[in-house]
Order: sequence, then structure tokens, then C-alpha cells
Amino acid sequence: PSVAVIVVAAGSGTRLGAGAPKAFVGLDEHTVLRTALDGVFAAASAQVVVVAPAGYEGAARTDALAAAGEHADLVRVVTGGATRQASVAAGLAAVWAEVDIVLVHDAARALTPPDVFARVIDAVRAGAPGALPVLPVVDTIKRVADGYVIGPVDRAELAAAQTPQGFDRAVLDAAYLAADREYTDDAAVVAAHVAGTAGRIAAVAGDPLGFKITGPDDLARARALVAQHPV
Ligand code: CTP
Ligand code: MG
Repeated sequence: PSVAVIVVAAGSGTRLGAGAPKAFVGLDEHTVLRTALDGVFAAASAQVVVVAPAGYEGAARTDALAAAGEHADLVRVVTGGATRQASVAAGLAAVWAEVDIVLVHDAARALTPPDVFARVIDAVRAGAPGALPVLPVVDTIKRVADGYVIGPVDRAELAAAQTPQGFDRAVLDAAYLAADREYTDDAAVVAAHVAGTAGRIAAVAGDPLGFKITGPDDLARARALVAQHPV
């Protein structure tokens, strides 16, 4: 089956506060987006749809073509929306007709290793309607309200969700078509609109390097990692 990866890069990076949209901030001589796209092209032979902020389509295309090398024909750049969900929808509309597995990946998870992509794609190829990478939760988690601990939470049932999240294309298209409000991630859109086992999402192993660059500390960590292990 043929695969597309939608790389959402249209956010403004408010929490990072770096003076430019987060995907266009530098990690080394390359941007966050370029580093993320190098990972995508290393991971899979796929159509790559980059979702850029309005006004940054040209910059996104430059990064995408540099990452694509001889595979320029695989690249499409589209303009994002006001929310991540709107940006994913814009990306979905640009996926080729023949694609049957779609991955959605945050540009902000720029250091995600290629084998995470492989595990997600393999799970969907094996028949799961969707798959996403998870990490175990290491902290003890409490339910808290009004300043008091109101109950324990069984950590064994919890996991932190990463991207890329991958889906059977028809399942993701149907879920996005039906989505009537904002959800926290793509798996939640699917879970809300595809009933029963037809929408059951497989959990595969994530990777600590798939962390999301959110605040200044995350950017410093990503820069240090890239400086240690040039990609
Ligand atoms: N994203 C997007 N379009 C939006 C909002 C987010 O494509 N309207 C993308 C971001 O570019 C990022 C990913 O979704 O790669 C995860 O979002 P987040 O980490 O929240 O990035 P920002 O929204 O840019 O950051 P902030 O919330 O701090 O403004
Ligand atoms: Mg955001």
C-alpha cells in the first residue's frame, strides 16, 4: 500500500516564543522543519505533505526540497489553519488519491527516529485502523482538584502519546469529515467518529527522542542533541 506523511508545521510557537513560527527556528544550520523532514525521508518512501503557516509556504518548500533530494516529486506544500486539526484537514485534502495509509506527524517532534515511523506503518499495514507511538509514564500520577489529592491513578494504564500517528486512509478521511469540534490529537478524532473495533488504535513503542519541542528548554535540548549527533 502507498503511504503519505502529513507534517504539520503551521503553528505559531507561542510557548517557545522564538520570534518566528516554531518549525522555522534553527536547530543548527537547519530549521526544526528541515530536521523533521530529513527524518521523514530517511524513514519511508512516501508522499510528503508539508503544512506551513500562511506566508511561509516558500520557506517550507525550500526545506522540503532540500530534504527530499532526488524525490522532489513526492513533496506538496499547503497552507495550514488556525488549529492543528484544521492544519491536518488541509494536509489531508492534498493527499494523493492512490494513498491508502496516512501518517500525521508534528514538525515539532523533529528528532523522532525512523524506526518509530516504521513501527507505525507496519501496524497499519498489518490491519490496524490506526496506530500511534507511546511512552510509559514514569511519574506517579494523582488526580487533584481544589488543591487536594482526590485519588490515585493506575499508572500501568497510562501512556504518553507521540507522533507520527498512522491510519488507514479511509478511516482518517471519514473521521475528519465527521469531526464537529476540536480534539486533542488525530487518534481522538478517529475514536470519536469510528465505532468499535473499526476504530481501534494500536499502541506501538515510542522513543524518548520523539519529544515535542514546546518551550525554550526543549529547544535547548534538541540543539544539544543535534550538536552531539549531527544528522
Ligand atoms: N500546528 C499546525 N497548525 C496549527 C497549530 C499547530 O500545523 N494551527 C502544528 C505545529 O506546527 C506543531 C504541531 O502542530 O508541529 C504541534 O503543535 P504545538 O506543539 O502546539 O505547536 P504550536 O501550536 O506552534 O505551539 P504553541 O501551542 O506553543 O503556540
Ligand atoms: Mg499549539
